[in-house]
Amino acid sequence: MDTGLAGRRVLVTGATGGIGGEIVRAFGTEGARVAVHHRSGADRARELAAAYDGVALGADLTVEAEVDALVTGAVAGLGGLDVLVANAGKYPVPAVPLWEMDAARWRTTMAANLDAVFLVCRAFLRHVATTGVGTVVLVGSTAARFGEADHADYAAAKAALTGLALSLKNEIVRIAPAGRVNIVAPGWTATDRNADRLDDDDFVRARTATMSLAKLGRPADVAAACLVLASDRLSGHVSGETVTVAGGMEGRVLR
Ligand SMILES: NC(=O)c1ccc[n+]([C@@H]2O[C@H](COP(=O)([O-])OP(=O)(O)OC[C@H]3O[C@@H](n4cnc5c(N)ncnc54)[C@H](OP(=O)(O)O)[C@@H]3O)[C@@H](O)[C@H]2O)c1
Repeated sequence: MDTGLAGRRVLVTGATGGIGGEIVRAFGTEGARVAVHHRSGADRARELAAAYDGVALGADLTVEAEVDALVTGAVAGLGGLDVLVANAGKYPVPAVPLWEMDAARWRTTMAANLDAVFLVCRAFLRHVATTGVGTVVLVGSTAARFGEADHADYAAAKAALTGLALSLKNEIVRIAPAGRVNIVAPGWTATDRNADRLDDDDFVRARTATMSLAKLGRPADVAAACLVLASDRLSGHVSGETVTVAGGMEGRVLR
């Protein structure tokens, strides 16, 4: 099926992470050119960029000037930008109930998962205002829908993306008539971060206990949903929606 993404210029944040790398590969395979954002992992970013005729660009997404420079660099490197996939995020450790959470942890989680998305969306939309073309995909989490005990900071930050997307879908059409903003919300997704535990039946059973499919998601599952929502051919009349990629998850087992 032709996604119409060939030649599109896409910025993927957090592109050296477990899910981000797969998003880059998915767009690259469709013939898109990708600006591969990284914070750590510069070598990996360069490898991915070279594979898909893209550019590798570093930035701490919590630093305003670095985010603005990231988008400027992506525009310069690719000759423009059509799609933003705001994938970068930080799952905080350790697990801790709110009454034991210090304010620094709360602020750090908000900065990485919400402030960073605000900054990169703003910089991207400023570019869109000059071209009249743009589509945004945010990567959220099922924590936004079901909550997550001992990660209330993360759940709150991801839930805020819903309000952001629902507002931006109405703003973007003022500067890009066909512009759309959607969210992909993964559930538990098997990445390198948890690769060592994927053969542990108890680990997998505990995480899939509320899901109809008895398996964790794969980064490619999340990437495929990002592709669909970025493609005007496949989802050109879909905006302000959240696509959950979580094997039919209904909620959490509490006890
Ligand atoms: N994997 C899951 O089970 C799961 C489930 C639900 C939602 N998600 C969401 O999916 C997205 C990707 O997750 P993942 O599993 O691929 O995580 P990951 O492997 O930890 O990758 C996250 C990426 O975001 C980057 N990042 C975080 N904070 C940043 C900052 N301040 N500035 C620049 N880059 C920053 C990281 O860079 P560094 O490596 O330099 O830190 C990393 O490249 C995240 O938004 C996450 O919340 C994941």
